[in-house]
Amino acid sequence: MNAQTTQKQWQLYKEGDARTYKLRLSEVPVPKPGQNEVQIKIHAASMNRRDVAVMQGNYPMPPRGSLVPLSDGAGVVSAVGPGVTRFKVGDKVIPIFFPNWIKGRPTGNATEVSLGGAVDGVLSEYVVLNEQSMVPMPAGLSFEEAATLACAGVTAYNGLFTRGHLQSGDFVLLEGTGGVSIFGLQFAAAAGAKPIITSSSDDKLTRAKSLGAVGGVNYKTNENWEKAVRELTGGAGVQHVLEVGGKDTLAKALSAVGPGGQIALIGGLGGFGGTIQAPSLLGGNITVNGLYVGSRENFEAMNAFIVNHKVKPVIDKVIDFKNADTAYQLMESGDFLGKIVIRM
Ligand SMILES: NC(=O)c1ccc[n+]([C@@H]2O[C@H](COP(=O)([O-])OP(=O)(O)OC[C@H]3O[C@@H](n4cnc5c(N)ncnc54)[C@H](OP(=O)(O)O)[C@@H]3O)[C@@H](O)[C@H]2O)c1
Repeated sequence: MNAQTTQKQWQLYKEGDARTYKLRLSEVPVPKPGQNEVQIKIHAASMNRRDVAVMQGNYPMPPRGSLVPLSDGAGVVSAVGPGVTRFKVGDKVIPIFFPNWIKGRPTGNATEVSLGGAVDGVLSEYVVLNEQSMVPMPAGLSFEEAATLACAGVTAYNGLFTRGHLQSGDFVLLEGTGGVSIFGLQFAAAAGAKPIITSSSDDKLTRAKSLGAVGGVNYKTNENWEKAVRELTGGAGVQHVLEVGGKDTLAKALSAVGPGGQIALIGGLGGFGGTIQAPSLLGGNITVNGLYVGSRENFEAMNAFIVNHKVKPVIDKVIDFKNADTAYQLMESGDFLGKIVIRM
């Protein structure tokens, strides 16, 4: 049993009736596990664009005066409560994004309750969760690597495989070089598909090619980047898009996709929204899959894929826990490729 009684914890808090949150580092009691609960000593956490949206008051969640941020982390089981059967002290684990979405379709309010949103997240030395709300860490990954998977990894995996049914040889379009897109690139390349990626930076395009992209297009210097993407497929169009740009990119993604292709509707980096013209979907036999991360079952399937294909998440920068506020600034700057990790 852990003898430590207090711990360091980052909290988002609001002053008065402010819309946005501020960050503070607090000293709070170490939580004890109750019935069917597991205490995890967090070793690493990672940032998602969504965490910036939470801080800015732009994330759909019930109003909260304060909360522990971040959904994504990895650590070691440090204590177990009565009735726990899935894990024991010393096991390496990753909390899942939606603690109540275990398998199948989401039921009830499963997708309204996410870590670092409606309930407290992982930017804390210790967290306590129900034993159902975590997965074993995949073998071969460090804590830093494992901490990148819960949101961006599961979303990219579901977009390509669970919902997208990707086949070897398919062309896959990834937009920008952030967390979801770089996982999409790595997973597609590992499965024998052909990733094409866009970026605002030629340097990042070069790095993306070293990770397995067969083509890259600068969307800042090439306004008609969707045409360049289509040319890279020999004119036929891509079979998959991980659509993270939102209103800036949706129409272009539709122009880049070929007959029978699918668009995984994921994000809104340029603002959520955009219009889909129904005739272009039915004329091209195009599928649009709305995605919201995924279940524990999806996470387990992704972890098996990661182990099987020896995928190593791409970490741009590791920041010390005591400087976690600077991770938010780095994320907002866009000056990174892949993931930003916070080490405890
Ligand atoms: N539906 C879901 O379940 C789900 C899950 C995860 C994420 N999301 C959403 O998906 C989006 C991506 O999330 P993330 O965490 O991967 O983001 P991220 O890591 O912050 O990605 C940032 C990168 O995206 C690129 N980018 C920025 N604005 C862009 C634009 N207007 N068009 C195209 N690319 C742009 C830039 O790449 P370059 O520097 O290379 O240009 C930027 O560095 C966010 O909107 C997020 O909220 C949704």
